[in-house]
Amino acid sequence: MTTPKSLFIKTYGCQMNVYDSERMAEALAPEGYVQTDTPEGADMILLNTCHIREKAAEKIYSELGRLKPLKAENPDLKIGVTGCVAQAEGAEIVRRQPAVDLVVGPQSYHRLPQLMEQMKTGAAIETEFPAEDKFDHLPSRDAGRGPKARRAPAAFLTVQEGCDKFCAFCVVPYTRGAEVSRPVDRVLAEARDLVNRGVREITLLGQNVNAYHGDKDGGTWGLAKLIWALNEIDGLERIRFTTSHPNDMEDDLIEAHGTCAKLMPYLHLPVQSGSDKILKLMNRKHTAESYIALIERFRKARPDLLLSGDFIVGFPGETDEDFEATLDLVRRVNYGQAYSFKYSARPGTPAAERPDVPAQVADERLQRLQALLREQQVECQDAMVGKTVGVLFEKAGRIEGQMVGKSDHLHAVHVYAPDHKPGDLVQVRITISRTNSLEGELL
Ligand code: SAH
Ligand code: SF4
Ligand code: F3S
Repeated sequence: MTTPKSLFIKTYGCQMNVYDSERMAEALAPEGYVQTDTPEGADMILLNTCHIREKAAEKIYSELGRLKPLKAENPDLKIGVTGCVAQAEGAEIVRRQPAVDLVVGPQSYHRLPQLMEQMKTGAAIETEFPAEDKFDHLPSRDAGRGPKARRAPAAFLTVQEGCDKFCAFCVVPYTRGAEVSRPVDRVLAEARDLVNRGVREITLLGQNVNAYHGDKDGGTWGLAKLIWALNEIDGLERIRFTTSHPNDMEDDLIEAHGTCAKLMPYLHLPVQSGSDKILKLMNRKHTAESYIALIERFRKARPDLLLSGDFIVGFPGETDEDFEATLDLVRRVNYGQAYSFKYSARPGTPAAERPDVPAQVADERLQRLQALLREQQVECQDAMVGKTVGVLFEKAGRIEGQMVGKSDHLHAVHVYAPDHKPGDLVQVRITISRTNSLEGELL
């Protein structure tokens, strides 16, 4: 029996990091680590990091500076950096901050127990892409939780990882490695385990999730087939997936949005720019028109689909005209939700070699784009008033008797429902649209 030790994990970046943090906690549970909510008093601190923009990566060094003094209070404390900064910067992290004991990239989390041993004699650094698949070697989901432990109603499940697209601005192909899909049976088994522990909604994750091609009985299944199989699991009520790439969209996935009952009417489909010249420089391999045509097909299959996207402004070479083309595309598509970023040059990516758009120009463009996207988001939210939607309750609200959950379209909804509990899926009539959420009443 190992003596219990406490583990604090801080997660940055995308949903895949959220999923990975959970899996790391599970990998360390057999070593006696129990998760805590604060870094103070922890025996092991892991920062699960994001390298996507410069600001995200630099944040890690200031956080490490803040954590370092904790080592004076607890000489046994170990500090580790995991995730995409770990993969991208490797040993450099220990050079910049010698208080770091462990650096491990996303493809090597199954090696955490061995690395803990190695750490006893000096910093352990693991940034190779191992030949074996980490998912084959990680303990099964929930292994350390005990047979009866329940889960929150909504969970993530990684089905595909890595990227072969090499968009000119993006670090992901370097930090997550080549695109790999998990076998169908593994995914279904993990989904069933989650449902047995109270999960009602699963979001399938992948950097290019719609490129999923998982092995099944000597052949491969695409994402739509996987979704149809999940649709058969009793007790699972909702299926979502993110993030998709326009070039990997197959007919059966579009169709499923009109026919698969548990697949939710929400699609996150990043476009990045509305200018074909910029899309080409970005190495996106689609055009503004081909993207819009795709959206039209989705809307035909599912007219109430809520569309979400990602945008980058100020990409090297972007002129006022290119930026206007992005605004035009946004006006034509009409997004219910979106993420927009100022371009950030990332070392090692092709675009980093090109001259930047002046910061002031990029700032001004970002503000204009965000104002337009915000307008569309508010309009979309306001249009929900009077409609009836499904809401999956996730937790109690701040007001007595109130529950909070997500609608089919992923809006946060507050409902007075004193007789309900997290995990209940109810029909709600939307009554009020507030700044970042809706309010409704039980039907
Ligand atoms: N795999 C997804 C998302 C990857 S990262 C996809 O292909 O769409 C999430 C978002 O971060 C991207 O869609 C992009 O909008 C943004 N992003 C990526 N690299 C960036 C950079 N160097 N500067 C600014 N934004 C960036
Ligand atoms: Fe990055 Fe492009 Fe791959 Fe998305 S598709 S992860 S933006 S390289
Ligand atoms: Fe960030 Fe890595 Fe995700 S760079 S966005 S944590 S894949």
